[in-house]
Amino acid sequence: MGRPAIPTQARVVAGVVLICCAAGMWLAREGPHFTVGVGGALRLKGAATPPPQQRQPAPAQPPPALQQQEQPPAPASPPAPQPPPPASPPPQPPPPPAPQPPPPPASPYPPPLEQHLRDELFRAIVPAKSQNFSTVVPGLQSTYKFRADASQPPREVLAAEAGYYADMARSLFAVTYKKGGWDCLRHPEIVASGALPLFTDIKGLPPGTMAAHPVEVYALLNEWPGLEVRGLPGTPPGAGATPPGGYFSGQPSSLLKEDVDREMYQLVTSALLSLGRATLSTRAMAAWLAATVGIKPDDAVLYVTDDGHGADYQSDTLLHGLRAVVPGVVDWPRRPGMYVGPETFTEAELASDLLGEYGQGFGYAHRLPEPYGIDRTRIGERLESGQFDFVIVSMTHRGWWRSLKPAICSKLPKARVVFLNGNDLPGAGCGLLTELAACSDWIFLREMEPACRLPPPPPTTTEKGRR
Ligand SMILES: *[C@@H]1O[C@H](CO)[C@@H](O)[C@H](O)[C@H]1NC(C)=O
Repeated sequence: MGRPAIPTQARVVAGVVLICCAAGMWLAREGPHFTVGVGGALRLKGAATPPPQQRQPAPAQPPPALQQQEQPPAPASPPAPQPPPPASPPPQPPPPPAPQPPPPPASPYPPPLEQHLRDELFRAIVPAKSQNFSTVVPGLQSTYKFRADASQPPREVLAAEAGYYADMARSLFAVTYKKGGWDCLRHPEIVASGALPLFTDIKGLPPGTMAAHPVEVYALLNEWPGLEVRGLPGTPPGAGATPPGGYFSGQPSSLLKEDVDREMYQLVTSALLSLGRATLSTRAMAAWLAATVGIKPDDAVLYVTDDGHGADYQSDTLLHGLRAVVPGVVDWPRRPGMYVGPETFTEAELASDLLGEYGQGFGYAHRLPEPYGIDRTRIGERLESGQFDFVIVSMTHRGWWRSLKPAICSKLPKARVVFLNGNDLPGAGCGLLTELAACSDWIFLREMEPACRLPPPPPTTTEKGRR
């Protein structure tokens, strides 16, 4: 039975998606981080290859740090740091300067960081499909079929996570959207499973947010031929909240009006899967952060977490990646929920551990091997005596790190202090920016905060001297 010819619209969508993905993969091959700009232009977000021109740390850039989302980028340019003239130009009429490619416009946003997924969870190939939509629809509690509880045998508890991923893997599409904030572990989960995300409200995404994601591709996927993404939420009011009337008039499956073209699906999905592996895996994200800041694999890095039991997906997934990129990273305090160690031996013990973790530990918990020879003693003392090359504070939105703050801020140069704010809610990290920028050149935000501005940079010493 001959398949009908691929409709033109479908060819266009497939073509654009493939071009975006191919270009993204090419750009991501070293330092995976890019955005797709207007018109499909791809732009790297970080200096993947540090020399020769290291990117200026964003917070040190002159302000309009965080523009209002609606404001077009102010045409009156900020007092842009002059590119240093190429080594003392001779006085004679210079030869016409070699046409420099214009430097990419400095992002007005702090460097972004998103939640990401352990490399092992990325499928090698696009899996065979048996359903149109994944079972789970965020916010619809009735669809949360992959939760285990203590009444189940340990083996079923341990299978719950795999069942959740497998369900996405056998689906053509999986619905996702903004939760409390825009970034969410579910987005990379869908990509890693070899399904296509239907990111229903992607058009509302504030600029600078989810920069590692091919958000223009996500927008195109909502136009998939035969798909009607109607009746889906715009911006839900908050995590888990269901708008009146629910998200769907019927079943999600009713959204697909015609069979997908298999060839096109296969091409697009495998391109997105490859791109996702190169950009949204724990290793890729950690490598991007390290390259951006200039952290080398054998640097002495202190990774400050906290002693709370609750998960922090941003901090916890980044630690997975850092352990691969900077093997000797000292995470302190040790978060028991991260590790599979001697205290976990039987299935029953592992199941019980997982049930005690947030989200039943899906994706992050008890998966990191206990590192050998990590010295977590005398942290304050070692900070004071300058034994760490870099400090990464992975949860500035929690309080634990503050006891170390005096040592961090007095002993390390600003370029070697990294602050991460993985708070779920846009705007929540805003109040801390001034304080953090006084101590660090590197504040990575998960949720860009359109209403929030970085403090203006302090006057430089030369300006002070002139007064
Ligand atoms: C998927 O959607 C197509 C088109 O509406 C439909 O023909 C098919 O039965 C659906 N498949 C499943 C498994 O529901």
